[in-house]
Amino acid sequence: MKILFAAPEGLPFSKTGGLADVIEALPKALAARGHELAVLLPRYRNTRAIAVAAPSLTIPMDGAARFPQIADGGPVHGVHYYFLDDPEYFDREQLYGVAGKDYPDNAERFGEFSRAVIEFCKRVWMPDLIHCHDWQTGLVPALLRTEYAGDPAVQSLPVIFTVHNMGYQGAFPREAMKKLGLPEVLFSMDALEFYGRVNFLKGGLVYSDFLTTVSPKYAREIQTPEYGHGLDGVVRNRAATLSGILNGADYIAWNPEKDNLIAARYSTKDLSGKMACKKNLVEAFGLPGDTVRKPVIGIVSRFAGQKGFDLIEKIAPDLLAEDLALVALGAGEPRYEKLMRDLQKAYPAKLGVQIKYDNTLAHKIEAGADMFLMPSHYEPCGLNQIYSLKYGTVPVVRATGGLDDTIEAFDPATGNGTGFKFQAYDGNALLVKIREALHVYRNDPASWRRIQTNGMGKDFSWQASAIEYARLYEVACKSRNRITATSSNQAGAKSAKIPPAAPTGKGSHGR
Ligand code: ADP
Ligand code: GLC
Repeated sequence: MKILFAAPEGLPFSKTGGLADVIEALPKALAARGHELAVLLPRYRNTRAIAVAAPSLTIPMDGAARFPQIADGGPVHGVHYYFLDDPEYFDREQLYGVAGKDYPDNAERFGEFSRAVIEFCKRVWMPDLIHCHDWQTGLVPALLRTEYAGDPAVQSLPVIFTVHNMGYQGAFPREAMKKLGLPEVLFSMDALEFYGRVNFLKGGLVYSDFLTTVSPKYAREIQTPEYGHGLDGVVRNRAATLSGILNGADYIAWNPEKDNLIAARYSTKDLSGKMACKKNLVEAFGLPGDTVRKPVIGIVSRFAGQKGFDLIEKIAPDLLAEDLALVALGAGEPRYEKLMRDLQKAYPAKLGVQIKYDNTLAHKIEAGADMFLMPSHYEPCGLNQIYSLKYGTVPVVRATGGLDDTIEAFDPATGNGTGFKFQAYDGNALLVKIREALHVYRNDPASWRRIQTNGMGKDFSWQASAIEYARLYEVACKSRNRITATSSNQAGAKSAKIPPAAPTGKGSHGR
């Protein structure tokens, strides 16, 4: 099958968070299963292209037109990359905004991108299906089913929309409708309008053929007011088309047996290299040498409300009164950057903070820390806790979204479990759980070792998820009577019946 991924970021070209990891690994896993994959991304500063695929698209904008190019990035790991090339919109310091503020023209930037996705299909490469990711692509399904509904070239194209994060919706003033040349019929309660604004995410939720999100638990959560960010009713209306498919980990990049970014390699059989990694980590954060004898807790995170920094703020004095060290790497909202800087000044011997994006240091934390902290308020999937498992770095997480689906609470009675989980979004609950983990670490090394090896033995590779997506693609193509290479291959086979995608709420991902 020919599948086009449309996303606002993706490795190895651009990244602000886990979405970029997914946009690299999932197409790669699907291509390895014999599908033909193309990924369309914006061409940001430093995105290298090798050729021009289309010299000029015509995109209506603000009563006139823009003429961006489609650049050709060539193939990477069997996946073909293309970029929407409009330097005025995308050749900027950051992807979505600077200093904690969104760029004021994000509606135009990603409105143009969404139209370009459809024009790309018509002009450069016609897929069997489009798979859109997050609010920046929400207008793709909305435009396909309205403005382009009468266009024979694309009207039968199935479109899948994946929600990686309900907290980011792309909501803009009503004037954006006109600017983007969107049909006025789209500004209604059952279309893009949400509390008087144009909501791009809602476009994806309402108009795509099938919806997915990145863990079974988050698929249930986003149907509730607590986690729906106001759009839970819209999601509930589409519940029959929604499934939760857990993200995987790319074990080529994240594997302590082969990782060249860490001080020493190690495996379940021989964990001694982990101590060399810990020493190296402690040095990298400039903490006192004797820190290696203490438990070290790691954080790698966007500094955002979603990630539980208000809980860390609440418990900091109690936590840092313990005999331990904390190392944190991240960047994001100015208030949390300030919080972490201030804490670091107050506890220089116990807290190492680096405010930046640094992939090597992220690997060093995964390898060198003893525990990994993710007290998220909500977490659609979360990748770092999955990486932590592989590195024998025990996750302490809140039982929400993908954190709940991927981490099994340690049970001292059976020795089963891969980490420590707390339920209530509450500082005290977090502190109690960290203390429980510290207690096992300090007093019961055999159990600690067991938790580490339980986690290292887990397999969250992409294969299983890629199979689930491929099944869903088949169902989506069938629902629009689209004949694909795969379906025509199967035409003669008696067992051409396509199994349905995992229904909402079922923990379908048996690992
Ligand atoms: P989210 O997408 O919500 O930020 P995930 O856990 O899904 O959270 O993915 C985060 C990804 O971004 C991981 O690959 C993590 O290693 C990486 N990451 C986050 N912050 C940084 C940083 N400051 N430096 C390097 N990598 C980071
Ligand atoms: C989002 C979520 C994160 C998820 C990632 C990739 O940014 O916050 O939980 O792992 O997307 O799907």
